[in-house]
Amino acid sequence: MVADMTEANPRISKAVIPAAGLGTRFLPATKATPKEMLPVVDKPAIQYVVEEAAAAGLDDVLMITGRNKRPLEDHFDRNHELESALERKGDGGKLAKVQESSDLATIHYVRQGDPRGLGHAVLCAAPHVGNEPFAVLLGDDLIDPRDPLLQRMVEVQEQHGGSVIALMEVAPEQIHLYGCAAVESTEAGDVVKVTGMVEKPDPADAPSNYAIIGRYVLAPQIFDVLRKTEPGRGGEIQLTDALQQLAADEKVGGPVHGVVFKGRRYDTGDRGDYLRAIVRLACEREDLGPDFRTWLRSFVAEEM
Ligand code: G1P
Repeated sequence: MVADMTEANPRISKAVIPAAGLGTRFLPATKATPKEMLPVVDKPAIQYVVEEAAAAGLDDVLMITGRNKRPLEDHFDRNHELESALERKGDGGKLAKVQESSDLATIHYVRQGDPRGLGHAVLCAAPHVGNEPFAVLLGDDLIDPRDPLLQRMVEVQEQHGGSVIALMEVAPEQIHLYGCAAVESTEAGDVVKVTGMVEKPDPADAPSNYAIIGRYVLAPQIFDVLRKTEPGRGGEIQLTDALQQLAADEKVGGPVHGVVFKGRRYDTGDRGDYLRAIVRLACEREDLGPDFRTWLRSFVAEEM
């Protein structure tokens, strides 16, 4: 279907990346370094996320940061001293790596101040985003660039309007770790209509095994709903609760759809997942993968 870019549904160009968390699960590494800067193989985790936004055509990125997040700003800025040193050495390969992160997108920053939850972090984006649909990308989820989820979500939003969330089927005993969606099927095999959402339900109360993963395309009406959303699970203002209100009354901000993702997702949210993500991504790399796989095979054989 050809996208209808009316004033009511303008093209999506802005991405919001919440990055104000304290990263306490990774202490002491995160005492003086933001968790978003921890390397996944040889790139900070946050760079994968900005690359994903840029690949989906979103070249205006707003990061919601907090105290001690200065390294994020430095990483996405030019480093003239380092660039000149590499130029003098004639090391074009490394120079390109340094310049990569500053050429990706126009990046803006706003501080969250009080850590009052994901919904509150998203609300901090309201003045920057204005009255257009926009994307939210959570840094703990890395999506393989070969499985372009965000592009698909943007397409679905352009087709249906409203908001679009990313869903993944998980084992019932995992659902309490995620927001969970009640869904109805649509004509498109990978798209569902979302009829309800609940944040981190007990498995017995979960309406499905569709977990919300960290990619959203949101209607701007979410801001008004968030302003009125009371703290929910964990005493925090939950994005899931605000989305639930959009799904419950389509007149507010249009429908909520879900794109069911079956591709490769690497979770970097806790230490075990982070280690698994590094091993998987290192294995996939053309430059490092062959040697690393050989070593890994013999390492595993010795450990068994
Ligand atoms: C957040 C959301 C949750 C979602 C998850 C995806 O939770 O609140 O609905 O399923 O991200 O990663 P968090 O993992 O930040 O606790």
